Amino acid sequence: MNNKLSVLFIGDIVGEPGMNCTKLLLPGLIEKYHAELVIINGENADKGKGLTEKEVSELFELGTHIITTGNHIWDNWKSKPILASNQRIVRPLNYPPGNVGLGYTYHTFDDGNQICVLQLQGRTFMQTIDCPFRAADFALKAIQEKTKNIIVDFHADATAEKIAMGWHLDGRVSAIIGTHTHIQTADACILPNGSAYITDVGMTGPYNSVVGLKKEIALKRLIQQIPYKYEMGDGDERIAGVNVVIDTSTGQSLKIESFIQPDYVKSVFEQFES
Ligand SMILES: [Fe+2]
Ligand SMILES: [Fe+2]
Repeated sequence: MNNKLSVLFIGDIVGEPGMNCTKLLLPGLIEKYHAELVIINGENADKGKGLTEKEVSELFELGTHIITTGNHIWDNWKSKPILASNQRIVRPLNYPPGNVGLGYTYHTFDDGNQICVLQLQGRTFMQTIDCPFRAADFALKAIQEKTKNIIVDFHADATAEKIAMGWHLDGRVSAIIGTHTHIQTADACILPNGSAYITDVGMTGPYNSVVGLKKEIALKRLIQQIPYKYEMGDGDERIAGVNVVIDTSTGQSLKIESFIQPDYVKSVFEQFES
């Protein structure tokens, strides 16, 4: 690893449409950004809920180094043994003690340098788990003894909680990357003390949907205010993510660039024109 490390972070993969899109487009993105580390959020990879061995092995085969998850990982009973046994998969650190899985993990490069991937989860409009801000402080004490290159996946619903975490961690980690809402935000930036930041990296999955859920089901749920069985959306599959370049001698980020492929805005205009 030289002084510059190119990282690809891919947002929440939703079901088979998201997996297919990843298989098709991830290799080109790795090549385009010369990515040396690929991190993917897989909390929705198995039909919207959690991960099974199938998605895990497919993602690792594609060149993924670390998989992050989130609240939906617990919806799938097949995911728990995977969390318990695989050190390349993390779940939010601030779930109460007694739950399986790691909240952070390390990737070691050939030259012995290490990078840490830490996942935290917000509490606003979500489960009332332990404080993510204090969990971050606690974890960083241990992590910073090993490496200053740290990527945080902050899995949270409220934009305010996310940017608050950005300010809390600015200068102490290399990047704070938001996941969970499935809508990419237009605020990718380097914060004043050198941490790359985006409120949400967006969804890899079917955009002909409501954040991955079949449109008709989502509308029934919202209009009639009662539960309807989850069904995956399909069509208009896209991959969303960011490329972050880290100066590994300082742990600070030099660049963050967000993307959705195929390009979302361009495609919408093309639909109007046709
Ligand atoms: Fe998600
Ligand atoms: Fe989530």
